[in-house]
Amino acid sequence: MQQYATLNASKANFDNIYDRPDPRGYFSVLGALDYMIPDVADPIIRQILRAREKRLDRPPTVLDVGCSYGINAAVHRFPLSFRRLRLRYANPDMAAVDPEQLARLDRSYYGSWPQIGTARFIGLDVSAPAVRYAVSVGLLEAGVIANLESGEPRPEDRQCLGRADVVLSTGCVGYVTERTFAAILNATERPPWVVSFVLRMFPYDAIAAALAERGLVTEKLAGATFVQRRFRDLEEFGNCLATLEKLGIDTNGLEAEGRFQAELFVSRPREDALAAPLGRIVTVVSGRNRTVGTRYVRVGRGPDAQVLRVPS
Ligand SMILES: C[S@@+](CC[C@H](N)C(=O)[O-])C[C@H]1O[C@@H](n2cnc3c(N)ncnc32)[C@H](O)[C@@H]1O
Repeated sequence: MQQYATLNASKANFDNIYDRPDPRGYFSVLGALDYMIPDVADPIIRQILRAREKRLDRPPTVLDVGCSYGINAAVHRFPLSFRRLRLRYANPDMAAVDPEQLARLDRSYYGSWPQIGTARFIGLDVSAPAVRYAVSVGLLEAGVIANLESGEPRPEDRQCLGRADVVLSTGCVGYVTERTFAAILNATERPPWVVSFVLRMFPYDAIAAALAERGLVTEKLAGATFVQRRFRDLEEFGNCLATLEKLGIDTNGLEAEGRFQAELFVSRPREDALAAPLGRIVTVVSGRNRTVGTRYVRVGRGPDAQVLRVPS
């Protein structure tokens, strides 16, 4: 989608940390920007998966779109958080081990925790090293390495995608569009629930329309936004505020406070949405007080507005 490509230009580019052989670079770079969406989304995802499990009468299989190194699976399945994993990967002694050795250690590490989530996880990502890592350490049962923006899934990938009862994404809409969601929905054996945490700068209309064509109705969780991370620098802050405001989105009290904000969209068959409206199955904690590093904050509106640098 041309619009996402243009909108993405205002965000910093992190492509070079998505396809390394292990997650150390990912946690180090995004962790330093207080990346937290897997953690703030986790309690919400847990509530939605509980509702999905009730409806199915068995634990659901979750397809994590843009699964990267399997972080949502780790945070859901085990008593772990992005924050805690960052400390593990930032440990100076961890810097000395090679990726194969780290994978062996991680396999034991993840295997040493009790399961606290019942869902099973499969993943989709364009990054082959990230998906392979997540599967090799046991976070994902299976992974699909594909770019469904530019091609159709292979038959074996269709079969894997087809197992999804829930299609989840954090930090990925913007990289993926309605094309990826349409390809997934075309492969699924039964209509899944689609749970998307989406930065406010990326309109969800085209995705919701593609899902509607396939029988799903979309609800947006009212009255809540979720912090994704701090803006990297003044340039990203200024560009993103300008982009949001061009879209007619009021950033005051939200992005103007220095943090990217995501919204939650959930799409389901109408009868599921009627049986358990989103507002009834979800209770929210926002994460607004959790950033610790420097933030840029805009005070006031219009020509008199000032940008302040708020140290940690
Ligand atoms: C910001 S990361 C989010 C990772 C993870 N969901 C999280 O919240 O920590 C974005 C991910 O989207 C993936 N990605 C980018 N383009 C993609 C595409 N066309 N299809 C699938 N994944 C894609 C990247 O490789 C990267 O792993």
